[in-house]
Parts: sequence; C-alpha cells; structure tokens
Amino acid sequence: MAQINPSILSADFARLAQEAEAVRGSDWLHVDVMDNHFVPNLTLGVPIVESLARATDTPLDCHLMIEDPDRWAPQYVEAGAGSVTFHVEAAAAPVRLAREIRAMGARASMALKPATPIEPYEDLLPELDMLLIMTVEPGFGGQAFLDIMLPKIRRARQLIAKHGLELWLQVDGGVSASTIERCAEAGADVFVAGSAVYGAEDPAEAVAKLRTLAEGASADAWWACRH
Ligand code: DX5
Ligand code: ZN
Repeated sequence: MAQINPSILSADFARLAQEAEAVRGSDWLHVDVMDNHFVPNLTLGVPIVESLARATDTPLDCHLMIEDPDRWAPQYVEAGAGSVTFHVEAAAAPVRLAREIRAMGARASMALKPATPIEPYEDLLPELDMLLIMTVEPGFGGQAFLDIMLPKIRRARQLIAKHGLELWLQVDGGVSASTIERCAEAGADVFVAGSAVYGAEDPAEAVAKLRTLAEGASADAWWACRH
C-alpha cells in the first residue's frame, strides 16, 4: 500500500488548517522543521506543530532538519506528532533517540541526506519505524529529483528485506507524477510531495493520482511480491 504524505512546506502557512483539509484522505501530513543551521532555511517549530495537531485529524509526520535533534525531537512528540524523523548526520546518539521517540508513543524515523550512505546504519534499522532517503538536498521545496538516489533506495529495500523488517521506506524531494514510479519500483512505499500536491489545482486529486501511479509501479516490483 503506497502512502502519500503532502508536505505543507508548499502550502500557504497563513491557512494551515484549510490546507490540511484540502488534502483530507492523505495518510499523513509532512511537516518540515528547519532551523537555519542544519539547512540554510527557517520554517516552523513546536508551537505551530502543536496548533496544527489540534486543527487536523490527519497524523503529522515531522521531518526535523535541525541541529541537536536529541534535545528537540521529544518535544515534537509531546506537541502531537505521530512520527518524528531526525537526521542521522545531526544526531549525537541515534539509537537512544529512536528508543526515546518510540517509548513516548510515536513512530521513530531516521533520515539520510543524499551523500550519506545507508550501509553504516544497517544494524540500526530494527530500531526504526521508517527510513527517509532524501532525493534532494534538504532545505527547500520545488527542487529537481536526484535520480542518482535510486540505487540507494534499492539497497535500502534490500536491507529491509534481508532483515525481514516492517520498516517503511520514505522518499522526500522532487517526488511528482513523473518521478514517483521510479521511486516505487526501487522500493519506496511512503512518498512526500510538496509542490506536486500544493502546486496542483486540486491537491486532493493530485494525491489520488500519485497514489495510483505508485501502486501501479510497485505492484509488480520484486520487493512488493515477496508475500
Ligand atoms: C525539503 C523538504 C521536503 C519538501 C519537498 O528539504 O524536506 O519535504 O517539502 O518539496 P517538493 O516535493 O516540492 O520537492
Ligand atoms: Zn521533508
């Protein structure tokens, strides 16, 4: 089952509740938290996540592009996030942090920037509920999809299969109707889309279309036929 997570980075920040409503039926809302240190951009923090969690029934998938996630990630769980993603490049103690997020009742997820390889983290995968492979350099919406990340998605899916894990594999950055099938074929099952959803005339229809394309592409993929 493909999950589509619209990224509110491409939404109108003055109308977040309505923008969440516009993609009703999405699996999660993807919330990009940036601190202008880990990435060269600044977005939103805990108080906005708290308000948004109260304003929508759709669970929040918080993507923390910030320094010191060890200190901040638990506050996003408290604020109401159902899933919290930290970057491994920024985490001092990823295993401890993933355990803490899970113990607080949220899904724990770890993200890799394009230049960060998956192989050194093979042993950490059982500690996670989701792995995020960035398909652009984090920091901005609307960037072009990096095709060179497809082999990493494939290798990550192979590791997940090798260990028999239930881990979700998320891709984020440049995911659109013209790139989502490649990601699904390679092994992704959770798709973040910002400009492809909120840049469309009908965001809900864009979500439905992306889901159909992803499910079509993964139906015959080696990794989805294993059951
Ligand atoms: C980028 C963010 C993404 C962003 C994706 O650093 O993590 O979630 O919103 O935007 P699109 O889908 O437009 O590439
Ligand atoms: Zn993101």
